[in-house]
Amino acid sequence: MKNDVKEILYSEAQLNEKVEELAARISADYKDKDLLLIGVLKGANVFMCDLMRKIPFPIQIDFIAASSYGHSTESSGVVKILKDLDYSIEGKDVIIVEDIIDTGLTLHYLTENFNSRKPNSLEICTLLDKPERRIAKLDVKYIGYQIPDEFIVGYGIDFAERYRNLPYIATLKESVYS
Ligand code: PRP
Ligand code: MN
Ligand code: MG
Repeated sequence: MKNDVKEILYSEAQLNEKVEELAARISADYKDKDLLLIGVLKGANVFMCDLMRKIPFPIQIDFIAASSYGHSTESSGVVKILKDLDYSIEGKDVIIVEDIIDTGLTLHYLTENFNSRKPNSLEICTLLDKPERRIAKLDVKYIGYQIPDEFIVGYGIDFAERYRNLPYIATLKESVYS
């Protein structure tokens, strides 16, 4: 599996620093609020675990499982909810936590869906953003890195459900996916 990696884009140490930065911004903005982080499974799993542990006051968490890619490398544009939230978000100050925004279709769907549940506020935090690929317009308050349109894996992000467990973010050799 390690031989499939072409280049490490962000090392464990770099990711740790970036997540700390995002957690510090969120902690400052939400210190007097009733914060609920919602992680979008499965990709946001790793980022969510690291981010929440860097917020120094009690918060709530929940997860939604949504998938638009499945085993394909192209977004289908149809977002499937595989597991819904456990609790109501009415009146809560919510941040959706994502690993990556590509076309924006997943988050466009989720923000519309969540807004209809009447949260007090709703923001987005993504580790990675590929602005070149955007189809749906989104307001994203917290962004870790803006990256070019390259195929990447690791730190929760998969190719055909593999490589999520890599502790860094890397590009794959073309031979792996062509
Ligand atoms: C990936 C990624 C984001 C979404 C971004 O999820 O984790 O959730 O695609 O793409 P978009 O902006 O074009 O919608 P995927 O559907 O692959 O499910 P996964 O998180 O389980 O891998
Ligand atoms: Mn995802
Ligand atoms: Mg995926």
